[in-house]
Amino acid sequence: VTTTRIPVRGPSTYDVVVGHTAMDEVETLCQDAAAVMVVSDPAAAQYAGTVTDTLHQAGKRVVTWTLPSGEAAKSLDAVAALWDRLGETEVSRSDAVVAVGGGATTDLAGFVAATWLRGIRLVNVPTTLLGMVDAAVGGKTGINTAAGKNLVGAFHPPVGVLVDLDVLATLPEDQWVNGMAEVVKAGLIADPVILDVIDDDPPAARLPTGRHARELIERAIRVKADVVSRDLREAGPREALNYGHTLGHAIERVSQYGVPHGHAISVGMVFAAELGRRVNGLDDTTADRHAAVLDQIGLPTTYRGDVWPDLVAAMRVDKKSRGGRLRFVVLDALASPTILEAPADDDLAAAYATVTA
Ligand SMILES: NC(=O)c1ccc[n+]([C@@H]2O[C@H](COP(=O)([O-])OP(=O)(O)OC[C@H]3O[C@@H](n4cnc5c(N)ncnc54)[C@H](O)[C@@H]3O)[C@@H](O)[C@H]2O)c1
Repeated sequence: VTTTRIPVRGPSTYDVVVGHTAMDEVETLCQDAAAVMVVSDPAAAQYAGTVTDTLHQAGKRVVTWTLPSGEAAKSLDAVAALWDRLGETEVSRSDAVVAVGGGATTDLAGFVAATWLRGIRLVNVPTTLLGMVDAAVGGKTGINTAAGKNLVGAFHPPVGVLVDLDVLATLPEDQWVNGMAEVVKAGLIADPVILDVIDDDPPAARLPTGRHARELIERAIRVKADVVSRDLREAGPREALNYGHTLGHAIERVSQYGVPHGHAISVGMVFAAELGRRVNGLDDTTADRHAAVLDQIGLPTTYRGDVWPDLVAAMRVDKKSRGGRLRFVVLDALASPTILEAPADDDLAAAYATVTA
């Protein structure tokens, strides 16, 4: 099979390229650059090596930089170190940054590309499922600071996203399952065929080498690309991508990030389904399908009951709540998201009671 191109429209349209040879396109995307900075996660070293070789063969001056592994990459120290490196190696306005790694790498490298010389070209080569279907697509970049996660950042869309399916060969199963929570989210808010594909072969949906992996990835990317094409800056439709995230972010914070993102939003989506059922008349079939499909993939659907007051407090200070008023994305029907603002405390508590272990 050849590559698939999924356009993301906006001030400057770019493609997400999916396939087994997607990485080859790095050369075309960097064709006007004399120098390219390749920024990578240590776990993605072999893929960064492939990108570097391709660029060398195309006659580019390549500067490489390896980040601390995973989330630790998203620090101001890492930003400063990269700015220094870009300065020392004289990376100029017409040059490029290529990020090779998971969401932490593309967020950090994207923020550096957004700020160096007020913005240079960025190419994302995501190497995790979450990166492919979410973090690398859509133009949001950011870092963590003492004040919290992702509070500092910039909108800086890439010139292209290269989803090379070969990188899945080394991805641990738990990282795949973590990313599957966002794939299920895309199914629930916009593309129910995703849920049918999972139901067709649940054991395969748990594996990066599963027979429907490519279809799941492409469908989830299309959902994100469509939403972002309509709303880059989160003024409207993009908020639907936050399905399951209001409670999910609170679970992450209250657990001091002990609960992985995908697990947290999995519980958050089951909670949102209960809210939708109580307040927005969501049908039982769709509401019940949430926990069923997430459970099949090995994602959790319940969390501790005793921390509910802490979760409410955390939700009130979420950067997406407005003046302390809680906002949730809920469904009125399958693939029909809407905003629920300031629901009654009783409805929240009753919905949470259904997701406690
Ligand atoms: N900008 C956005 O719109 C957006 C959206 C969602 C998430 N994010 C951010 O993305 C980050 C999470 O992304 P993530 O889940 O990809 O985490 P990550 O980048 O930390 O990667 C997860 C782990 O997988 C390893 N890894 C990466 N690729 C691998 C491969 N091919 N083989 C083996 N191991 C590999 C990494 O070393 C790391 O340990 C968070 O920082 C989150 O805030 C951003």
